[in-house]
Amino acid sequence: MPTPHEEVTKSDTRLDAPVLETIGLTKHFPVHGSRTRAVHAVDGIDIQLLRGKVAALVGESGSGKSTVARLIAQLLNSTSGVIKLDGMPVKAHAGRKFRRYVRNVQMILQDPFASLNPIHTVRYVLGRSIRIHHPKARKAERDELLKGLLTQVDLVPPERYLDKFPHELSGGQRQRVAIARALGATPKVLLADEPVSMLDVSIRIGVLNLLQNLKLKFDLAILYITHDIASARYFADTTMVMYAGQIIERGPSERVTQNPAHPYTQLLIASAPDPDQLTGRDERPAKGEPPSLITPPPGCRFNPRCPFAMERCLSQQPPVFQVGDDQEAACWLYADDASVDREAAFGARA
Ligand SMILES: Nc1ncnc2c1ncn2[C@@H]1O[C@H](COP(=O)(O)OP(=O)(O)OP(=O)(O)O)[C@@H](O)[C@H]1O
Ligand SMILES: [Mg+2]
Repeated sequence: MPTPHEEVTKSDTRLDAPVLETIGLTKHFPVHGSRTRAVHAVDGIDIQLLRGKVAALVGESGSGKSTVARLIAQLLNSTSGVIKLDGMPVKAHAGRKFRRYVRNVQMILQDPFASLNPIHTVRYVLGRSIRIHHPKARKAERDELLKGLLTQVDLVPPERYLDKFPHELSGGQRQRVAIARALGATPKVLLADEPVSMLDVSIRIGVLNLLQNLKLKFDLAILYITHDIASARYFADTTMVMYAGQIIERGPSERVTQNPAHPYTQLLIASAPDPDQLTGRDERPAKGEPPSLITPPPGCRFNPRCPFAMERCLSQQPPVFQVGDDQEAACWLYADDASVDREAAFGARA
C-alpha cells in the first residue's frame, strides 16, 4: 500500500517526465563530392526538455546548436538517434504527422525580420497561424484569438499593431510577433535559436522576461540556444554546453556558470560575453581553433585546446562523469584515477 507521500512522488514523476527527449541524436552532413567524408555536426546528443523549464544550449559558433534545433523541429533528417514527444518516438517530415508535430513544437529564430514576410501585416501573419491551428474557429472567435495573441506578447492595445507591416515595427516588436505566431499553435515546446542576439542590448532582457512569463503561464518547455553563457545563467534552469557536436557539460545553470567543471566551460565563462574569442583566465588566447568537424580529433574533441590534456584524452573519448549532485561533465579529469589532474582542474574552478 503506497503512503500518501509515495503517491505524490509518483504523480510528480509523471509530471516531471520530459515533454521532449532526444536520445543519441546525430547528424552527419555529407561533404559535397565525397562518398565517405561527412561533417560531424551533431554526434550523439541526449537532451531532455521539461514542462515549465528552460534548458539552455550554449557553445561557440559552429558547435552544432542550430543543427540540434532543426533536427528537433524535424526540418532535417537525423543520421541516427531518436526524438520522443511525450515519450513516443516521432519521425515526421511531411504531411499530417508533421503538422501535428509542429503544433506541439514551435521554433523562434534569431532574425525576426527574415522570419516574417515583409509583404504581410501582423493581422495576416497571426491570422494564418490561427487558421492553421484552429481550423474550426469562426471569424469572431479568430479575431478574439488574434487580439489575445498580441496581448500575450505585450503588444497592447492589439489594434495598434494589427495592420502594421514588419518594417513598421521595432526589432523587439517583430520578435514579439514571431513569438505570438508560435503561440498561435498552442505548443508544448518552444525552440528558441538565439532569440535575442540580433536585438538591441537594451531590449533583450524584455524579450527574455516575456519568454520566462510565457513559460510559467503555459508550462512551456523551452530550448534556449545562445552564445551567451551569462544570459543562460539568468534565463535557463539548466545549461548544457556543446563543443564540436557533443554536449560536454550539463547541470543547473547556477552551478554550471558559477562552478564550471569542464575545461571548455571554464574557458567559455572566462571569455564571456564573446565565446567566439576564447581567451584563458590569464587573458592569453586559448590554444588552437575549434576542430575540424570532418575529421574531429580522436579522443576528447577538446584535447588540442585543453590546458589539462592528458595522455588518454588524445585517444579515448571521455564518458560522462558525475560532478557533484546534478552536474556532469564528459572529461577524463573526473575519472576516479585522475586525482592529481583533477586537483589542478578544481584549482581552476575556484
Ligand atoms: N546543410 C548543411 N550542410 C553541411 N554542413 C552544415 C549544414 N548545416 C550546418 N552545417 C555545418 O554543421 C556545423 C554546425 O553548424 P550549426 O549551424 O549547427 O552551428 P551553430 O552552433 O548553430 O553555430 P552559430 O553559433 O554560428 O549559429 C558547422 O560546421 C556547419 O558548417
Ligand atoms: Mg546557429
